[in-house]
Amino acid sequence: MTYDFNTITDRKGTNAIKYDLALARGKPADALPLWVADMDFPTAPEILKALHDKVSHGIFGYSAPCEDFYEAVKKWQKEEHDFSVERKWILTTPGVVFAIVSAIRAFTEKGEAVLIQTPVYYPFKNMILANNRKLVTSSLFEKDGKWQIDFEDFERKIVENDVKLFILCSPHNPVGRVWRRAELERISEICLRHKVIVFADEIHNDFVYEPDRHIVYQTLSKEAAENSIVATSASKTFNLAGLQFSTIFIQNPQLRARFQDARNATGYDEPNLMGLVATQAAYEHGKDWLSALKAHLSSNLDFLRCYLKEKLPRIRLIEPEGTYLVWLDFSDYGYSDSELDDLIVHKAKLWLDRGSMFGCEGEGYQRMNIATPRPLLEEALNRLSSVFQD
Ligand SMILES: Cc1ncc(COP(=O)(O)O)c(C=O)c1O
Repeated sequence: MTYDFNTITDRKGTNAIKYDLALARGKPADALPLWVADMDFPTAPEILKALHDKVSHGIFGYSAPCEDFYEAVKKWQKEEHDFSVERKWILTTPGVVFAIVSAIRAFTEKGEAVLIQTPVYYPFKNMILANNRKLVTSSLFEKDGKWQIDFEDFERKIVENDVKLFILCSPHNPVGRVWRRAELERISEICLRHKVIVFADEIHNDFVYEPDRHIVYQTLSKEAAENSIVATSASKTFNLAGLQFSTIFIQNPQLRARFQDARNATGYDEPNLMGLVATQAAYEHGKDWLSALKAHLSSNLDFLRCYLKEKLPRIRLIEPEGTYLVWLDFSDYGYSDSELDDLIVHKAKLWLDRGSMFGCEGEGYQRMNIATPRPLLEEALNRLSSVFQD
């Protein structure tokens, strides 16, 4: 089957936060939105069919995963990520952010410290603060076009603050890193030595550009596996975020029981039926669609790279190793963060995510979502060029 990622689907008036909340969020109504991490493509036809079949059945009562669901998850993890999963490790939550909050509540008390590496997906910080935990940040730094971990700072912050939980973003949003084995092993060694539980948010795991490979945190070692929670979802990979469903792996029975208690204390019991059906169909039948999507994303990335080189050479692309979110450095223009944002939103009429939302290290950057049809990406770049071309 061939799949089409270049037809524009009108998303206005469809409850899409990307398109329908512009005025409410202080953006011009005609701003082209390439901010939030969802895609402008319908999901795979194979998933749509499974959803249509469920709709035709017509009954949407309380639901639970069956054996086929677990088999589909296990097969996907094994084939895509070389991760051998046991059924009892698998839990579901209505989203990865929900799982992060469950882990914060399960493994830390009020006032205890949780570490994150900034710049990073902003709900990490917000959820730590909203749950009255102490926010501790270790800044990533950029060297030769790649963002890196300052391991000395990372360990010092753990020791100084008696950190209990570390939330890892792997692959990393927004800096696009796919962490190497040596980097993950060093994280694991430090966290084990200081008894810090690791929550590995691997929601972007299926988007890694050749020749890099995503390494599942729990495949590093038996010790790393016992000391961690790995969170994944078909929601990024297959554009299902609105169905609110994610798949969590916890090997250590004690951690699993504590996580489950915290999750259940929210009142969550059975998963959303449509999320469950879509996830199972994605993992059973979504491979071809995903490889076509990845080819489209790579070609959008090539297009963006060439466009910037030719027309906007002062905007620096941080080459992503993974994710469909690109991290663009505008610092050469010398604008303050708010001047830059104002130019992008009100002059270029583009709605991107401003870098400082991810942490002060992101000042001067903007995050752009390239999971969109080529004509929209081109339009976005033309809008940028109308304001930033010298
Ligand atoms: C790193 C990361 N984690 C979690 C999420 C959101 O996950 P969910 O919608 O399952 O809560 C996103 C969405 O952009 C993300 O980038």
